[in-house]
Amino acid sequence: MQVLRGKPVAEQTYVELRQRCAQFVEEYGYAPSLAVVLVGSDPASQSYVASKQKACEDLGFSHVDHYYDEDVAQDDLIACITALNEDPSVHGILVQLPLPPHIDESSIIETISVEKDVDGFHPQSVGNLLIGRPCFVSCTPLGILRLLDYYHIDVSGKHVVIVGRSNIVGKPMASLLIQKGRDATVTLCHSKTSDLASITGQADILIAAIGRANFITASMVRQGCVVIDVGINRVDDASRVRGYRLVGDVDYESVAPKSSAITPVPGGVGVMTIAMLMYNTMRAAEHLAAKGQR
Ligand code: GUN
Repeated sequence: MQVLRGKPVAEQTYVELRQRCAQFVEEYGYAPSLAVVLVGSDPASQSYVASKQKACEDLGFSHVDHYYDEDVAQDDLIACITALNEDPSVHGILVQLPLPPHIDESSIIETISVEKDVDGFHPQSVGNLLIGRPCFVSCTPLGILRLLDYYHIDVSGKHVVIVGRSNIVGKPMASLLIQKGRDATVTLCHSKTSDLASITGQADILIAAIGRANFITASMVRQGCVVIDVGINRVDDASRVRGYRLVGDVDYESVAPKSSAITPVPGGVGVMTIAMLMYNTMRAAEHLAAKGQR
């Protein structure tokens, strides 16, 4: 059984990006820049945003941060994003999700300029992805592809079962895998799927993105399956200083011995998501700078 660690893959990506960033700064005289918008004080969101800001700093990107209270008015958020769209010194815009219930997430995402949509969540980005046109691709699915490529796991002709149909992971993952050139056969399962275990049991590659701790157990996977665990779930653990530990959607202890390869949590897919956000931001900066913006 091979452990598919994200760190060497992310490191390789960062080496490439540092080089591209230095070249960009030399050519244009300024750094790629990411605008980060965070609403409220959800600890997980705060932690993700801090990791994204740190990645910018590590790579030589700049970041501008906009923090709002939980009760921010939707119009104020829209005004912020509109200003970022028009600001030539900003290349990528990231609005950390989830947003509070009084904010219509779709309206916010649709306000982001497609050219700065480094999360790949805008409907136009999603549509372009589905029909195989160039676009920004959601960072977690993109990271999973890079992870599979790095470890020479070919998906062509394979049966990939995805559990979870979110707009952030499940749907874009399926869109990527079915494209000509990737050529996987994809089954997309969700909470209403009948006899889930009989389908996951047919997977050559299983991608778990359900958001439920240890949901995939050994009886749901077949011997030799490649298992990609997208879950990052906090479970209480009094033995830890911070009071919790992170576990995936896969019950690692029981599933790992049956799999041919498996991603750990933490240290698997999660680190790739941030690396791909930086990759998308680099692309956005290169594209806008080449067009003469700024
Ligand atoms: N919340 C959970 N994952 C993501 C992500 O990839 N991007 C943003 N903006 N919010 C998230």
